[in-house]
Amino acid sequence: MYLGIDLGTSAVKTVLVDSAQRVIASESRPLTTFSPRPGHVEQDPAQWIDATFATLDALKATHAGELAAVEGIGLSGQMHGATLLDASARPLRPCILWNDGRSAAECRVLERRWPALRATSGNKAMPGFTAPKLLWIATHEPEIFAATKLVLLPKAYLRLVLSGEAIEDVSDASGSLWLDAARRDWSDAALAATGLSRDHMPRLVEGCAPATTLRGELARRWGITGQPVIAGGAGDNPAGAVGIGAIRPGTAFVSLGTSGALLAPTSRIAANPDRAVHTFCHAIPDMWIQAGAILSAASCLARIARLFGATEAELLAPLGLRPQAPSAVSFLPYLAGERTPHDDPAVRGMLDGLSHGTDRGSIVQAVLEGVAFALADCRDALADVGIAMTEADAIGGGSRSRFWLSVLANVLNVPIHRFAGGETGAAFGAARLGRLAVTGEAIAAVCTRPQRIETFEPDAGLVGAYAERLPAWRELYRPRH
Ligand code: XUL
Repeated sequence: MYLGIDLGTSAVKTVLVDSAQRVIASESRPLTTFSPRPGHVEQDPAQWIDATFATLDALKATHAGELAAVEGIGLSGQMHGATLLDASARPLRPCILWNDGRSAAECRVLERRWPALRATSGNKAMPGFTAPKLLWIATHEPEIFAATKLVLLPKAYLRLVLSGEAIEDVSDASGSLWLDAARRDWSDAALAATGLSRDHMPRLVEGCAPATTLRGELARRWGITGQPVIAGGAGDNPAGAVGIGAIRPGTAFVSLGTSGALLAPTSRIAANPDRAVHTFCHAIPDMWIQAGAILSAASCLARIARLFGATEAELLAPLGLRPQAPSAVSFLPYLAGERTPHDDPAVRGMLDGLSHGTDRGSIVQAVLEGVAFALADCRDALADVGIAMTEADAIGGGSRSRFWLSVLANVLNVPIHRFAGGETGAAFGAARLGRLAVTGEAIAAVCTRPQRIETFEPDAGLVGAYAERLPAWRELYRPRH
């Protein structure tokens, strides 16, 4: 038995997976995000721990026998967050999250101080990443910076609580900007540019390698008989890749979670920092992931549902299975600013083209289309460096909507495939990494592609209609920085 724990942004999801790779049980507990000031986004690390423990306590209540047999644990997590710990490994302040936009000025400072940043990390300095957040802390909260002894990404903090050891995997670490992406090791120059050193960083391991073990007292709490190995794990996007077997070049996929991404596994780095393409180490050795990342995807639908006082299902049901034509309304999904391709933390969303004839359905459709257009921008940024996409798998909560996947197929003009249980992708991928860390099996034997249950083919008429709309949609963006 294996456990996959995904410390997401909206929830912690834990899955229990058997040796035949069946998800035996899953539990999820919500997380709260708060915004102390506009553009600031934070979470309380204590809540991550409470939520994770609650999922495991619940699994013990319903699946004690299976939980007792757990041998390997994999962790996946929201990427980029800065969790600052004092000398006693206690959080000094709330975690600053991946979609926090406060450190734009610090990004410029960082690029000036360390001109090799883009060549070494494969990334542009953007506020979502971890390193500029530390420069912001050094300027605005110097007493906290001085007290910081350890900087951990969210899931590394969870691992510290689970195991007592500070360890990070290279895929998540590559979202910090402190990693030399080619060498898969911390860059001393990068750390020095933010006033830090290796002493402030966790030890690094590959995602599928054994990292540590679960504390004995926690194993006892959950009735686990052995001492499960905790794997390196992965950032949520690389973990999602492992979950759907996207471990080779040519296996691009789309993630429609709280955030969105178009991700392409590659066997060499093909960076495009000028267009804000992300370079991540993959969760398996000698592979990388080039990604276009958008900050708001399913979260746009969630926001619009709150505005209409309806559930997402109530908003989607009247739309049917596929669009007949593009909505008359256009939507920019930049509710939290944008990374690929604009790198503009200050830009905000927009509804354009409202009229007396606008109904709820045309706004909801525009929201789904706006996210799809933003992913078309990501596709083009990847195409700049020769990454072509002929089809894509879809994962994340948004992939439950057939209408949305049909819009995506037509906007991207490629077939989009859907899996059963795609929404548990990152946690399932983490469980696979937990298994690999225990068994040492061949990666390809474990990271198989799950069965596709449905394919959404582009329709020539709609592809043309969306292609015509895309330039006008792009025109709506006005840089704010
Ligand atoms: C990726 C990114 C998000 C977070 C949260 O660069 O910022 O996908 O990992 O899911």
